Amino acid sequence: MHSRLLGACAAALGALLPTVAAECNRTYIQSFADEYVKAHETGQLYNLDNIADNFTYVENNKTSEITSGIFLNALKIDHRHTIVDTVDCASFTELIVTHNVSGEPAPYVIGTQIRHSPGDLSCYLIDLIVSTTGSWLFNATKTLEYASKENWTLIEEAKRPSRELLKTAADAYLDMWSNKSAIDAVPWGQPCDRLEGSVYTGPGLPTDSCKVGIPTNNNQAPNSHRRYVIDPTYGSISVLCIFEHLSNAPDSHEFRLENGKLRYIHTITLARSGFLAADEPEPAPVPRGYRVRRGGALSRGTGLSES
Ligand SMILES: *[C@@H]1O[C@H](CO)[C@@H](O)[C@H](O)[C@H]1NC(C)=O
Ligand SMILES: *[C@@H]1O[C@H](CO)[C@@H](O)[C@H](O)[C@H]1NC(C)=O
Ligand SMILES: *[C@@H]1O[C@H](CO)[C@@H](O)[C@H](O)[C@H]1NC(C)=O
Ligand SMILES: *[C@@H]1O[C@H](CO)[C@@H](O)[C@H](O)[C@H]1NC(C)=O
Ligand SMILES: *[C@@H]1O[C@H](CO)[C@@H](O)[C@H](O)[C@H]1NC(C)=O
Ligand SMILES: *[C@@H]1O[C@H](CO)[C@@H](O)[C@H](O)[C@H]1NC(C)=O
Repeated sequence: MHSRLLGACAAALGALLPTVAAECNRTYIQSFADEYVKAHETGQLYNLDNIADNFTYVENNKTSEITSGIFLNALKIDHRHTIVDTVDCASFTELIVTHNVSGEPAPYVIGTQIRHSPGDLSCYLIDLIVSTTGSWLFNATKTLEYASKENWTLIEEAKRPSRELLKTAADAYLDMWSNKSAIDAVPWGQPCDRLEGSVYTGPGLPTDSCKVGIPTNNNQAPNSHRRYVIDPTYGSISVLCIFEHLSNAPDSHEFRLENGKLRYIHTITLARSGFLAADEPEPAPVPRGYRVRRGGALSRGTGLSES
């Protein structure tokens, strides 16, 4: 009753203020993301309905058939986190997987943006960054350990950052590779934990700061082709992009702000880091058509470095 009244008020306000855009249905977008996660759990796509005529599936920045990718495996989801953008009718989901449902190794860390048409909320884009053995600083077990200790719960209403602040913060951070003054525009927080692949900047380290390993060369090729999903209720913004300076690596960065400052950063980057130990488990049978992007002439060490 209460929420229905609120709904009616919002509708009345909407009528009075026609410039205020209607919000996309959070419940619907969230439940579509749930169905998407179910599709990974079952390795079946039948539960995804309301797909737009112009539907596109993109995996690691390449348009492909949804049936040719990661969905061929039924995965046991160890960690899942979703945010919803009620202005752009989109969601972002982070998944951490170590095994498939048969218990075979299936190490994946996945970042997925899903976009819906504002009218009928049909889904017109599923856009994934899928990292696995061989990706930048990859170790799904470790990523899981760190991520599951973090607190990404709803932010109290009065303390939520604005969309603009979230976008400015994420852009400033991602601009640091190509813009010398961007570092001063990042709302650095303390403590701040960056989970970059499987490498963590804290807690436990003396610094516990997201400034560790940020680029010192600010004249590199930019992080381009940015796609955003913004959810102030979780203080979070997801950006998928291309790290041009890293052999055009497809990349996912998610930021969480608390009290207006950076608190957490999670990154997934499809570049080879030389971080692999010889005994790291290979993922279960690599699905047809699926290719891990092996970066170009990269020879990075194992250090904490975003550059
Ligand atoms: C939002 O979506 C949910 C789930 O599909 C549905 O039950 C609800 O009626 C929708 N709300 C509005 C206002 O359309
Ligand atoms: C598909 O349609 C949606 C709107 O319904 C539009 O925003 C989107 O850009 C279209 N995508 C393509 C690839 O044409
Ligand atoms: C999680 O973070 C929120 C927002 O900062 C805070 O209100 C809440 O107390 C935290 N919960 C725990 C268990 O630390
Ligand atoms: C560099 O970053 C600063 C701070 O965010 C911004 O004001 C400026 O416009 C940026 N310059 C370019 C060329 O993007
Ligand atoms: C990423 O995808 C966009 C859109 O399809 C395309 O324009 C761009 O060239 C791609 N970048 C790379 C490095 O593949
Ligand atoms: C990945 O991390 C787990 C947990 O810390 C560790 O036991 C394992 O040895 C790591 N694997 C590799 C290949 O480094």
